[in-house]
Amino acid sequence: MRLFQGAADGTLKAGTLQHETRMATQAPDITDLIANNRSWAEGKKAVDPGFFRRLVAQQAPAYLWIGCSDSRVPANEIVGLDPGELFVHRNVANLAPPQDANYLSVLQYAVQVLKVSHVIVVGHYGCGGVRAAFRNQRLGLIDHWLSPIRAVMRDHEAELAALPNDAAREDRLCELNVRRQVENVGADPFVVDAWAAGANLAIHGWCYSIADGLVKDLGATVRNAAEAARLRS
Ligand code: CO
Repeated sequence: MRLFQGAADGTLKAGTLQHETRMATQAPDITDLIANNRSWAEGKKAVDPGFFRRLVAQQAPAYLWIGCSDSRVPANEIVGLDPGELFVHRNVANLAPPQDANYLSVLQYAVQVLKVSHVIVVGHYGCGGVRAAFRNQRLGLIDHWLSPIRAVMRDHEAELAALPNDAAREDRLCELNVRRQVENVGADPFVVDAWAAGANLAIHGWCYSIADGLVKDLGATVRNAAEAARLRS
C-alpha cells in the first residue's frame, strides 16, 4: 500500500481519504515506509536540488520545540517548517524536568551551541499523559514521569475545581502544565546564564488542538530573567 504520492512539488500528498482508509483498516507494512521515504526524498530534490546538500553542510535552527510524543502532534508539520529549521525534543506530556538529563542535554545544546532564539513548549488538548495524571490512573513507570503534572494539579486545585466539568479541567491542566514547563525552562541555569550574557532568547508556551489543528499562544512568553521570575511568582 502506497500512502504518499511522491509529488513533483515536493509536498507529501497524504490524501485524506487514503489516510482515513488506513486508520480504518491497518497500518502499512514497514517496507511501505521505505517506499514513502524514497518518494519524499525525490519530491524534495525535484523542487530544490540542493536541499539535502545544504542540510549536510549545517544545522542552524532558530527554534527549539519541546512537545509531546503524541503521534498526532508532528512538530515541523504543524508550523510549516522544513528539516533543518526546528530542533525538537519530545517526551510524554511535553515536560521540562530540571533533573532530566535527556531534556537538559537538548536544552544546553540548543541554547549554547545552536543559539536558538526561541524555545517553544507545546502542549496539546486531549493529552493522554495529562489525562492519566488528572485521573490518577495506574499505568506503570509513566506514573512517576507524570508526577510533575500532579504537582501542577495540587497547586491549582481551586482554579480547577471551579471549572464546570472534568473535560474543562483536563484542558486547563494541559495549559497549566505548559506554563509550568515554561517556568522550568526560564529558571534553567543554561538559560539564565545565556540571558546574562545578552542572548536574544524567548520562551513561549503554546497549546495545540488536535480537533482543529490550531495552536493557541498561552501568553506565557518570557524574554529575560525578570520576566521569567514574574511568571513564576
Ligand atoms: Co500528549
